[in-house]
Amino acid sequence: QDQAGRVAAIVERFRGVEGAALPILHAVQEALGYVPAESVPMIAAALNRSRAEIHGIVTFYHDFRDKPAGRHLVRVCRAEACKSMGSDQVAQGFEQALGIRLGETSPDGAVTLEPVYCLGLCATAPNAMVDGKLSGRLDGTKAAHLAAGLQP
Ligand code: FES
Repeated sequence: QDQAGRVAAIVERFRGVEGAALPILHAVQEALGYVPAESVPMIAAALNRSRAEIHGIVTFYHDFRDKPAGRHLVRVCRAEACKSMGSDQVAQGFEQALGIRLGETSPDGAVTLEPVYCLGLCATAPNAMVDGKLSGRLDGTKAAHLAAGLQP
């Protein structure tokens, strides 16, 4: 089944459900790994909402990605506890080592660097999650080291 077909099937599952925008978008992201721009008109039409509204939801919520993620996923916690313990330096360490900014994917598709808002382990702030593995008490140097350890 192609992407459009998979999105159509998801939309169909939620037909007639009130307030289905978020559940549909979550299901699409879960199925495809991101919410393709091409799927927005279809979702909007099914929900009787404008494309701009659906696009707005995709860009507003940090949960959604509008492009496929890289082969590695680095998520830097940017919520309060981590911020107060130096997550700016952690983010910078990753950005410099990877050559991309938070919210970007490297051009070769190797790594996506993205913010996350509390990983639920504030006691070890500042935290990051690298390919699903939590690293705590980070600083810029440790972040650069983690980034260097990612296989291309
Ligand atoms: Fe970063 Fe909670 S604020 S883990």
